[in-house]
Amino acid sequence: MPATPNTLNVSTLATFVDALPIPPVAKPSGTRPLPSSPKEKLPYYRLAAQPTEMKIHRDLKPTRFWSFGGTVPGPTLEMRKRQGVLVEWANELPQQHFLPIDYRLHGAKDNPQVRIVSHMHGARVPADSDGYPEDWFVPGKSKLYHYPNEQEPAMLWYHDHAMGINRLNVYAGLFGATILRDSVEDNLNLPSGMYEVPLVIFDRLITPEAQLYYPISEKPGAPWIPELFGDAILVNGKLFPYLEVEPRKYRFRILNGSNARFYHLSMQNGLTFQSIGTDQGLLPAPVTSKRVALAPGERADVVVDFTDCRGQQIVLKSDALTVMQFRVSANKVSDNSSVPAQLRPVPKIPESDATKTRLLTLDEYDNLVAEPILMLLNGKYWHEPITENPTLNSTEIWTFVNPTDDTHPIHLHAVRFQILDRQNYEPWTYLTKKEFRYLGPRVPPEPAEAGWKDTVTAHSKMVTRIIVKFDSYPGRYVWHCHILEHEDNEMMRPYEIVAG
Ligand code: C2O
Ligand code: CU
Ligand code: CU
Repeated sequence: MPATPNTLNVSTLATFVDALPIPPVAKPSGTRPLPSSPKEKLPYYRLAAQPTEMKIHRDLKPTRFWSFGGTVPGPTLEMRKRQGVLVEWANELPQQHFLPIDYRLHGAKDNPQVRIVSHMHGARVPADSDGYPEDWFVPGKSKLYHYPNEQEPAMLWYHDHAMGINRLNVYAGLFGATILRDSVEDNLNLPSGMYEVPLVIFDRLITPEAQLYYPISEKPGAPWIPELFGDAILVNGKLFPYLEVEPRKYRFRILNGSNARFYHLSMQNGLTFQSIGTDQGLLPAPVTSKRVALAPGERADVVVDFTDCRGQQIVLKSDALTVMQFRVSANKVSDNSSVPAQLRPVPKIPESDATKTRLLTLDEYDNLVAEPILMLLNGKYWHEPITENPTLNSTEIWTFVNPTDDTHPIHLHAVRFQILDRQNYEPWTYLTKKEFRYLGPRVPPEPAEAGWKDTVTAHSKMVTRIIVKFDSYPGRYVWHCHILEHEDNEMMRPYEIVAG
């Protein structure tokens, strides 16, 4: 158990006293030649990781963060399909970390405290621009990454991925949103401009002095904790913010940037969401629901229609937790935006396309008092030789077998995939005889996740199957659990897309 945290009980703070901030949009500083083909000039951005102070609530003193560009989340990268860009990621942090490093974890031993490497989650990029966890660099250094943007529009996000301290670097604030667009999507006439709002949600523990608190375990020399859950739910960097809206439709691009917390979002007055997109872009058709579920790393693209809520104040909740408030103005407005019945076709990948099926277990190992101490993928440590080596452009089915009590959000770099189904099974029979005893039928994905995905929730005591076409770039990438504490403690594996 973590040591008794010395934290502020945020429910004592006034709610809805800060306006929801909108992260600034990143601006390119000119163009630069593409290193691999210097005749091509691409828009060039420089994003530097630096210490910053930011007020998360009216009644709290500023909180120290590490951020790109002085805000958490960092500036939003607005990109267009097929318009490649260059981003120079710079490390301008101090030499010492301010969060508790566990030197036993992979990559943390014998390496400098402060190391960063940026990964664009959901982006299809050449391997040398993907932010391989061991490609970290120290203060004073930078790396130039190329994002070709040869992929469908979606909300992506950039975040740190440094080996063994990823959970601490992201917790410190090193992340931001990316929105990729194209003209097909522009022509759908979805709510846009000031009616399209990113909501980046992340939880933190806050000390009475309004500083970030990351608890440590009670085991001497082993500070790692299995999951971080904070009671301060921040949206775009504010605690309990409000957003003034007009009685009309809004498009919200929602990202769960938390280390470990899952959200189940709902409007207190029962107002519905129209889900129009998943992690990797638009759904074939909108899906109406009262609840939006988001695991760490997942994104949701939703439209909310406030037309019938004139003058109301509506609280957005996650289970029993208060997230934020919408204040709907009383005046009538006209709304020319629409939510078309057909958004974008998502052709189903037939199972017969798969040339290989991989059975992959998600494993947790506990100590004698049933505390998790280690998590592995398919029984393998990070440093073991590569076992997942799909051929470029081949299609495979990956079957995740989860005997643990946790849901693990499993993410593959470089590719998008579709969820085939989930099925309850009996772990003991599988563990002892390697035989599947199923306890129910194969359940297709929820309608709101039946599009292109890059992160899938593999639920406890279920078998979850995805189908993936590895049609990106050859090279070495990673797949991992997106609970960052799990990822840092061996629940991440390299994989290689092999040129055919
Ligand atoms: Cu969100 Cu390995 O990434
Ligand atoms: Cu990723
Ligand atoms: Cu996990």
